[in-house]
Amino acid sequence: MQTISKIADIRDIIKAERKKDKTIGLVPTMGNLHAGHISLVEQMHQHADIVITSIFVNPLQFSPNEDFDTYPKTMQADQEKLEAAGNHYIFAPSATEIYPEGTTSKTLVSVNALDGILCGKSRPTHLTGVATVVTKLFNIIMPDHAIFGLKDYQQLMVIKQMAIDLCMPINIIGAPIVRDDAGLALSSRNNYLSGEQQQIAPRLNQILNFVKQAILDGENNFRELEKQTMLIIEESGFKPDYFEIRTQNTLKSATIADHKLAIFVAAFLGKTRLIDNVRFENNEKNN
Ligand code: PAF
Repeated sequence: MQTISKIADIRDIIKAERKKDKTIGLVPTMGNLHAGHISLVEQMHQHADIVITSIFVNPLQFSPNEDFDTYPKTMQADQEKLEAAGNHYIFAPSATEIYPEGTTSKTLVSVNALDGILCGKSRPTHLTGVATVVTKLFNIIMPDHAIFGLKDYQQLMVIKQMAIDLCMPINIIGAPIVRDDAGLALSSRNNYLSGEQQQIAPRLNQILNFVKQAILDGENNFRELEKQTMLIIEESGFKPDYFEIRTQNTLKSATIADHKLAIFVAAFLGKTRLIDNVRFENNEKNN
């Protein structure tokens, strides 16, 4: 496995692999890899001959008050994990390689229809930062397939929509959320949690499942359910950001008339912001 930092070098490698008729799969990450990331690499082996994992902490998707400067960097451990997972190349560019003119780029990619809600509301520049860097990675690697975790469901929807709207010939794959034994969705930011916070954090997933069951059991006042659950999240020790019941495909606020539902939550434990979601079908018979 090779680690490549220059755009020109990874392009040469990909050209050579393409000459051998190999298909290319991209696993975009910001490093500090955990079992969730490794599962993306493992799944990508089922789609592509050559798996390239990018490691780049993208400054453009952090606002000034967020954790860009302290975001954990663990390149050696990441390399070992990727090697063990059979990853072929790591693309780990510097910030100047990706943003040669600085992050006040004149070109930004925004999927406006899916921004301004959920994480896009709480982190106004975040999804534009993600869509812009993913576009750059797609233009550099030109993969046949790219894979993203369902934990960042809104991010996945933004990237899928962007690929459709900008005619990017890339198969965008959504991969199941990987959880620890207590049900907490794996995230690099879980490393920030204190021992006590680690005990509280899995409550978020329990609350999601509790509300899902309430809906399946016939609860139909979604707005009231959202309001009451925000209080429960607070009483459980979090500072809630949002708790919303939306449609899976359009991310519109859901009502009882909708069947494919997703419940989204974001909440702080101290300074650590956790997100999670659950997706399910609310069938006629449950209504
Ligand atoms: O999900 C992430 O780790 C990042 O948002 C991504 C997709 C690698 C873009 O920086």
